[in-house]
Amino acid sequence: MHQLDRRSFLKAATAASAGTMLTGGVGSLAIAQSEPSQPVSANDHIQIALIGAGGQGMGDTKTALQVPGVKLLAVADCYNGRLEHAKELWGDDIFTARDYNEILARKDVDAVIIGTPDHWHKQAGIDAMKAGKDVYCEKPMIHLYSDGPEMIEASRSTGRILQVGSQRVSSMIYLKAKELLDAGAIGQLNMVTAHWNRNSSMGAWNYTVPDDASPQTCDWPRFLGTAPRIPFNAEHFFQWRKWKAYGSGVAGDLFVHLFSGTHFITGSKGPTRGMATGGLRFWKDGRDADDVVLGLFDYPEGFNLSVGVNFVDGGEESEGLMFTGSEGTMEIDGNSVSVNRVPRETEPGLTIGTFTLAMQKKMQAEYDRKYPRKHPGGTPAAGYEKYVAPEGYSDSYDHFKNFFRSVRSRQPVVEDAVFGFRAAGAALLSNLSIERGAVVNWDPEGMRIL
Ligand SMILES: NC(=O)c1ccc[n+]([C@@H]2O[C@H](COP(=O)([O-])OP(=O)(O)OC[C@H]3O[C@@H](n4cnc5c(N)ncnc54)[C@H](O)[C@@H]3O)[C@@H](O)[C@H]2O)c1
Repeated sequence: MHQLDRRSFLKAATAASAGTMLTGGVGSLAIAQSEPSQPVSANDHIQIALIGAGGQGMGDTKTALQVPGVKLLAVADCYNGRLEHAKELWGDDIFTARDYNEILARKDVDAVIIGTPDHWHKQAGIDAMKAGKDVYCEKPMIHLYSDGPEMIEASRSTGRILQVGSQRVSSMIYLKAKELLDAGAIGQLNMVTAHWNRNSSMGAWNYTVPDDASPQTCDWPRFLGTAPRIPFNAEHFFQWRKWKAYGSGVAGDLFVHLFSGTHFITGSKGPTRGMATGGLRFWKDGRDADDVVLGLFDYPEGFNLSVGVNFVDGGEESEGLMFTGSEGTMEIDGNSVSVNRVPRETEPGLTIGTFTLAMQKKMQAEYDRKYPRKHPGGTPAAGYEKYVAPEGYSDSYDHFKNFFRSVRSRQPVVEDAVFGFRAAGAALLSNLSIERGAVVNWDPEGMRIL
């Protein structure tokens, strides 16, 4: 087992053998990640604001602020309690508002983190870019397919950096997996199997509604945005993932991470077609998003992706990707990647046991003449390697570090609007396929439903 090396101010373990260091083109990113963080002068701080200060927005901001030279100025949210908690966390000087436009109007804000529900990603993202801000937008980048081209165009025309928040794309484990696949560690890739199983109430999106939730403490019309007008509903406000009007089902919540990982590791732009099935099997609590979804996708590079998410798993919660190649398998499991190499047999083999003894003898002799290197029971050399990230490793930290590096250098980010649309566009084919009861064709190059 190898421990991947990284030095950072997160004080992660650093011991690793030189042989486990990432090398080559991909490795250069990992080596850059392992550089000690440079102090940044106060004049050179990137000043950020948070739009959507719920669970992920607050978590993202805490991580972003660990990157040297980043300062939080303002927070926008539709629930008073979260604006108040932002001040508890980051001080009374933090400017807060229900309307994010008040934050975007501030000249001193360089970049924003968008942690709103999915149905606000496009509008908040475009408004922020048009106001001259760089954007870290949580996944999935789109809620509707029409969001994709609009986000891509806004990023292009404003020249703003847009990074989508599927943090695994910056993970040293995913970088190592990419390097292994590119080096032929499992031969020709034929299949990817991805899963995310949950068995807890929180895993099924039953997030806690605060006692003071009301139309006074929650800006309901602003939360709704373009969603259908309905009277105030605290469950919809705080558990929005359960309804497709605001969220994108398990496809937008979890498939998108698995697609982002698959696209990053394989270098693919996406599938050419997808089909899915699913249903609401267990959490029949008024939600309209399925709790079991299984999807199958064809990739033009010649492999298939099978993804499955369920919230009704009776066993342990787990998430992972298995890459099956002609010469072995590669598995990503949490903070590790392992390769089980089984080189292909070079001989065809014989099944002669049902033939007459004379025939068996004759054919075996011929076979032994034809394949003289054959040794009894001999399979070619197999191997197993495992690479583990240092304890406490945070891919979110690396994702923010990459984002802020691009904000400073104006160099492209790895997970830009095109990558974000290709991942979310592919993932959401599952919802379309279930709605239509049909296979859905997708143009991964042009990013269009066919
Ligand atoms: N990258 C990851 O691993 C990861 C993990 C969890 C969530 N997410 C993503 O983060 C986003 C937020 O998820 P969450 O779990 O934090 O949800 P949440 O409900 O905890 O937080 C969303 C917040 O957005 C606020 N909001 C709604 N409309 C707004 C508007 N117009 N302007 C300002 N604020 C608004 C709400 O009041 C709420 O506080 C989702 O898109 C989700 O997919 C990503």
